[in-house]
Amino acid sequence: MTNNRRHVCVLALSAFIAISSFARAELAIIGVCAGCHGADGSGAGLDNVPIIAGTPAAHLEEAVYAYLDGARQCIEVPAMCAIVATLSESDIAELAEHYGAMTRHSSGEAFDETLAQTGARIHKKHCSKCHVRPDDEDVENALGIPLHGQRSAYLKYALNAYLTGDREVLLPAMAHELAELDADAIEALIHHYASYESP
Ligand code: HEC
Ligand code: HEC
Repeated sequence: MTNNRRHVCVLALSAFIAISSFARAELAIIGVCAGCHGADGSGAGLDNVPIIAGTPAAHLEEAVYAYLDGARQCIEVPAMCAIVATLSESDIAELAEHYGAMTRHSSGEAFDETLAQTGARIHKKHCSKCHVRPDDEDVENALGIPLHGQRSAYLKYALNAYLTGDREVLLPAMAHELAELDADAIEALIHHYASYESP
């Protein structure tokens, strides 16, 4: 099965899990995740660590499987990939539910208003089809992970990884849009995502 199809299957399966309410057992491994992602999923002060609180469970699962199958590689923090390699499928489902159920706070970073407005236009044209805001009622069904409010250093790192090929771009439609961006457009997008205020 191609990565693409595998990931779509993961999304469909997780949507099913999300609607069948199941007990959220406390996993010992959560303490390990908290070392970098924080007990509240908002990060423990480390730049390249993404906020995972309030990201829909299906998207979190999809991301973990991308690390497991090598589509994503942990270049700056190899320990992340070593840790997810120890997880069972049910651990992954439970962890995704655990963080997905949390409130998503914005990184609350400073941003430039003019750049943020330029970024809003670029986002709307190139990215909004798949990436919606965390407070969008349809966020769980969106193809892409919510980017608004995500830590800027992580967004830069992730975008750069797709552009250099360190991270596989799983959808040709996203690759097509990324090819349209230059350094100024990326900077404007980062300011736009930082301008998101948590509800
Ligand atoms: C040593 C620090 C560290 C630990 C421990 C850690 N992570 Fe991570 N996590 C990271 C970093 C850094 C990234 C970004 C990695 C990359 O793409 O290169 C990341 C990325 C992620 C992502 C992708 C989020 C997104 O927006 O795409 C998920 C999901 C995730 N981690 C879940 C977990 C879970 C669940 C655990 C515990 C089992 C865990 N992490 C433990 C550092 C850590
Ligand atoms: C056709 C749908 C689609 C479009 C259009 C799209 N993306 Fe994505 N994007 C995705 C999917 C699916 C993922 C998750 C793939 C993965 O795990 O690598 C993703 C992941 C990402 C990530 C990683 C987020 C994280 O938490 O790790 C970033 C950053 C990103 N996209 C930026 C963009 C930007 C910027 C644009 C517009 C220029 C864009 N994408 C357009 C579907 C899309």
